[in-house]
Amino acid sequence: MNNQSKEEKYGLLEVELRGLISRKDALISSLSNFTAAVQSHFGFLWTGFYLVEGKELVLGPFQGPIACTKIAFDRGVCGKSWSNKKTFVVQDVHQFPDHIACSSDSNSEIVVPLINQDGKVLAVLDIDSIHLNCFDGTDKKCLEKIIKWFVSEVY
Ligand code: SME
Repeated sequence: MNNQSKEEKYGLLEVELRGLISRKDALISSLSNFTAAVQSHFGFLWTGFYLVEGKELVLGPFQGPIACTKIAFDRGVCGKSWSNKKTFVVQDVHQFPDHIACSSDSNSEIVVPLINQDGKVLAVLDIDSIHLNCFDGTDKKCLEKIIKWFVSEVY
């Protein structure tokens, strides 16, 4: 099973999430299970949500090492994903001028915004890897698809 393509792995993740996540559950429960499912499928360094609260992002449910608790609007990769309302794929976090280093083991990351039907950013999904160049257009495409469904299901 180790030679599955990334797309196949994301497909299996989506099947599991669709079975697991329900609007009947509390939002915090769904966010928590989402991060656990990503980790069990991919084993990244860190997978978590930062939630928009006023003018900052606050740390939400996550799996992985301890992380910074607040990120200001437009700061770091997460803040930029919020302000630009788009996914950021960072091949080498050490080359990203405003990267906020929570773990020295992180080398690349992807941040996907959760945007509602009114175009408002509700949260961002942040995934960090110990490997350089871990994420590419396939991760972006697959995660954006999953997140679009997730937002419609839980918010
Ligand atoms: N990667 C983030 C900071 C959060 S930690 O990596 C968990 C950023 O620069 O926005």
